[in-house]
This record gives sequence, C-alpha cells and structure tokens, in this order.
Amino acid sequence: MMEAPGITLRCEDCRRAFDEMYPGDFCEACGGLLNAELVLDPSSAATLRGRFAERLRDIVRGGADGSGVWRYRELVLPSAARDEIVTHPEGNTPLLSRASVSAWVNVDGLLLKHEGHNPTGSFKDRGMTVAVTQARRAGAAAVACASTGNTSASLASYAAHAGIPAVVFVPAGYVAMGKLAQTLAYGALTLVVPGNFDDCLALARRAAAELDVRLLNSVNPFRVEGQKTIAFEMLQQLDWRAPDWIALPAGNLGNTSAFGKALREARALGLIDRMPRIAAVQAEGAAPFARSFAGDFAERPVVVPDTVASAIRIGAPASWARAIGAIRDTNGIVLSVSDAELLEAKACIDASGVGCEPASAASVAGIRSLRRRGVIGAGDTVVAVLTGHLLKDPEVVIEYHSGTASRRRGANPPVEIEATIGAVRDALKRRSLNRDALRGDDLAPDAGA
Ligand code: F0G
Repeated sequence: MMEAPGITLRCEDCRRAFDEMYPGDFCEACGGLLNAELVLDPSSAATLRGRFAERLRDIVRGGADGSGVWRYRELVLPSAARDEIVTHPEGNTPLLSRASVSAWVNVDGLLLKHEGHNPTGSFKDRGMTVAVTQARRAGAAAVACASTGNTSASLASYAAHAGIPAVVFVPAGYVAMGKLAQTLAYGALTLVVPGNFDDCLALARRAAAELDVRLLNSVNPFRVEGQKTIAFEMLQQLDWRAPDWIALPAGNLGNTSAFGKALREARALGLIDRMPRIAAVQAEGAAPFARSFAGDFAERPVVVPDTVASAIRIGAPASWARAIGAIRDTNGIVLSVSDAELLEAKACIDASGVGCEPASAASVAGIRSLRRRGVIGAGDTVVAVLTGHLLKDPEVVIEYHSGTASRRRGANPPVEIEATIGAVRDALKRRSLNRDALRGDDLAPDAGA
C-alpha cells in the first residue's frame, strides 16, 4: 500500500529542497523553478488503479473524490485533507471519437480529449484547483497570474470559490471575449497591460516578488501537479493502455511539461508499460520551441508572437527546460502549423458538433501534418487534447464564417432572408447545393498521406 507522503519542492537548477508549505514561487537561493517530487512506490500500480476505479462512483455523489483531479490525489497533493480542497469539481472530461475528424486527419484511431468540458471551459481548471487549494493552505493573502485569458478565467473562478482576492494581468487587445467576460464576472482585479503575454508574465513575477501575492502561473509546481491528471484520466479511460501519440497545443509549455511528468510517473509506477510519444504543436507565428527542436534544442530563441490563436500567442515560454525534458523522455516531436491550417482544423472539429477554441485545434492540425509526413502511421492510436471550449472565442468563429476577406473552407455564413416561406425554400435549396460542394472539396478527408 502506498503511504500518503508529502511533497518535496526541489529547485530544478541548484537542487535545493523546500518543504511543501514553502511560501515562495521560485527558489530563494537561485530563482530557479521548483519541481514537486512525490515518493512513488512501484509496487502499488494495481492498488492505485483499484482506488481510482472505486472513486469513479463519487462522481454522482459529489465531493472531492468525484473530481477528475482529486481522484488521483496520491499522485497530485497527497497531504491535502478533504476539507482543505477547493473543487468545483473539475475534470471528468470525455474522450471522443468522431468519424469526420478521423477522416480529415486520415487516422482511424483518433480520439479527442475535450478539456473544454471543465467548469470554466478549459484545461486550466485542473491545475488551478490544486494551486488555489495549496495557496489557501499556505495562507496566501492574494493570488495572481499573467494570462492570455484561460488561466485568468480559471484563477478568478477558483479564487472566488476559496474567498481569496485575485489579480490578473492580461495583454491589451489580445484576450478573447469569452475569457475576458469570465474574468470580470468572477470578480478578479483585471489589469490590462500594454504588450503581449510575455510582458504580462514579467510584471506578474515582479508583483509576486515585491507585493504580497502568490503567483499561480504554470511555473507554480502545484499547477503542474493538477494538470498531470489530464494524462492520468485519459489513461484510465483507455484502460491504462498507452496510446502511440498524444498531441497538445503548446504555448507557455506548462502543459507539455505536465504531460511529461505525468507519463514519467505513470511509467515508473507501472500504471502503463510503455511511453506514448508527445507531439507539441505551436502556431507558426509563435513557435520558438518548434524552432529550437529543429536545432536539437541548442538555442533558446525569443520571438515576437503573432497568431490568430490568442491563447498561445507567446514568444518566450517560461517552462522551457521542463518541456525539453518532456519531449526527450517521450521521444516526442515539436512542430508548428499555420493559422490557416489551424483554422481549417477548427472548422472540421466544430462542424463535427464537438467544437473547440482556435489554439486547441493546433493539436488536430499537427496530427494531420505528421500523418502526411508519414511520422504518424495510419494504424496508430492518437489522442488530441482539445484544451478549450468553442465559446471562449466567438469573435474568431464569426469572422471565419461570415468574414469577407477570402473564402474559408467549410464556411457557414448566416443567411439574411425576407420573412416569407419562399425565401426559406430558396435558402434550403441553396444550402443543399452548398452541402454537396462542401463534401466535394472543402473539409475533405485527407488523402495526402
Ligand atoms: N490551449 C489553450 C486553450 C490555452 O489557453 C493555452 C495556454 C494552451 C493551449 C497552451 O498551454 O501554455 O501550457 O503550453 N494558455 C495560457 C493562459 C497561456 O494564460 O491561459 P501551455
């Protein structure tokens, strides 16, 4: 049986160790990132699987064990008592199969892990339930983050639930409407900063160092601990059979790092018997990590980010070294896709009835690209993580479908009509013609591989 040990925080640079209640956000000696070290007992895989299965029953009962994060609490934050946990609950997201999306990427065994089903509509809730729980345990006066919108929405929501004041730093003009609306509605002090995400993070780090606020960006080790559960839950849904590939959109690289840690731990514990390969997918206009991968990570470039996928509009990712570890340990790959590819993937996912926000579609666009290049095989099992909900960014959707710029593949513009039955008949007729055209070329299955 596995004990419920505490976590040791260890500096990734100078290796100094700190207690889990350490109130700082970085190593006080050298400023390095802190890694949460768990004591793993390799003999306990069967016991753990049994417990995780047993706790599924708590989904209908409510309470912490019904959370798709806290179900795995031995591997997340073992020392947290039930009444300390700040949960909505979160997680328990579906693993979907859609024939039209599989056909579009030309991979039969494609599954979509839809993190947009979390309470605030993105995967961030998994890290935030743990980070806010820990911030409250450690007596934080206030919590803060820099964000392209999803982290801030999640932080605002969990801080409201915990009764802790929240302050968020967001880039002026580059936060999608749904995310900004959530942040305001949940009551966070919302600071709109000139510049991009990287500027916001620099300011948030200074605020955390000089003012009495706890930084809950994904450099925070407890965020990573929570985000690992996307992988644990996916593996449990697959009956602990590892897929060949897991594709993720990559921005600040917190999630890539969390997947690397989760898979290493799952493998070390014997929960899985082989490593899936990670494909981290960036937007072409914000792809410093993909560029670095192409040169075997010799360089750490910083770019001025520019992409329609505002969630991953990041030029200087913070979790750099951790993410390199995730790619190396999983024999992974980093690539980039253009905004046009990403929007076409999104249109395909949306038209299947599933839907996601623009950044999320990078995972599916990346799979199509890797399949075309023959890196992913036709018979491979591939999980694409959809990180956020379609309604996060309604402006991009409306622009795509009704914009005037150039004709977009699969575009479904609204049709204004006279209030007559004749006009309805005409519209139906035109739509059936368009449907044929759409099937013929627009979001056609991929024959490129
Ligand atoms: N997908 C979505 C929808 C995101 O919001 C983010 C990051 C990512 C992917 C990339 O994950 O940064 O861990 O590599 N959003 C952050 C935010 C930056 O502030 O909400 P990552």
